[in-house]
Amino acid sequence: MHRVFSGIQPSGVPQLGNYLGAMRNWVALQDGHECIYCVVDLHALTTWQDPKQLASQTREMAASLLACGIDAKQHILFNQSAVPAHVRLAWIFNCVARMGWLNRMTQFKDKAGKDRENVSTGLFVYPNLMAADILAYRATRVPVGDDQRQHLELANDIAQKFNHDYATEFFPAIEPVILGVAARVMSLRDGTKKMSKSDPSDQSRINLTDEPEAIALKIRRAKTDPAPLPGDPAGLEGRPEAANLVGIYAALAGTDLAGVLREHGGKGFGAFKEALAELLISHLSPIAEETRRWLDDPGAIDAVLRDGAARAAEIADPIVDEAERLVGLLKP
Ligand code: AMP
Ligand code: TRP
Repeated sequence: MHRVFSGIQPSGVPQLGNYLGAMRNWVALQDGHECIYCVVDLHALTTWQDPKQLASQTREMAASLLACGIDAKQHILFNQSAVPAHVRLAWIFNCVARMGWLNRMTQFKDKAGKDRENVSTGLFVYPNLMAADILAYRATRVPVGDDQRQHLELANDIAQKFNHDYATEFFPAIEPVILGVAARVMSLRDGTKKMSKSDPSDQSRINLTDEPEAIALKIRRAKTDPAPLPGDPAGLEGRPEAANLVGIYAALAGTDLAGVLREHGGKGFGAFKEALAELLISHLSPIAEETRRWLDDPGAIDAVLRDGAARAAEIADPIVDEAERLVGLLKP
């Protein structure tokens, strides 16, 4: 059986893009795999976080994951900083990865921009910690969004160089798992921008704890064009807002663009938006309710995370102990 590992940053209550692009796939993979899911609070520190908010954002992300259907009893859910094995292995990987490899990471270049001299050194070695997250469990399947593909290639380079330099086959190859029709959910206000927590307009996104009225209003106000819906996917060409709404509908209804357009093609957006809002509300209301139930009991969330961390450490500690032995560290 393949071991699955994935991580998500503690950005508070997630938005629809996180749900359709990541969390829903995590839930689906629980069937038939051993899954380890991690709220990566150490990765969050690579850019400054308000210490008053980081812990509550970590709890909010954990609550949302539980509410979406992550089964923390059959599988494992924890926060990264609670399992020191990640950082121990990351240090070894800092010494295996090459400057040139990290210099090529497009996410670093995007995030650092022109301010390279002034970003944290943690941001630069971010992918080494990500490789350690996965390889501390010798996990082989990693569900991520397309934007993380390059980081997984780097993780494989690190694993290979480690194996080569220490004449071992200790670390396995990792395969990305990139799933779903709505791999990219776009902003409700601008169909060319990704839906994101960092967009200043709350109207641009659906948050997983939005009330039904808020969802209906955001969809009613979502940007569209004046033409009716086309009869087939080719007709969505050059209509990013229409394509986005049809994509969201397809993802939630478990069909594809063609399937949605067979049913709704020719309709105006008024009627389609009503159907979409209804679908969103029926999907998200139970999740929102369950998230609030968890958030009313922060002690219960902490208990889940504590138990997850203990079980995660049981797997990771012996693996990282062995990696330390392989590089020659004395384990007296
Ligand atoms: P982030 O919070 O941006 O680091 O994203 C966490 C996870 O959600 C990653 O796996 C992303 O690929 C996914 N994700 C974030 N925003 C979107 C979006 N608008 N559409 C699809 N997936 C997304
Ligand atoms: N870098 C990932 C993201 O931004 C989050 C992450 C951290 C992760 N460690 C991981 C994803 C390990 C998969 C496996 O989405």
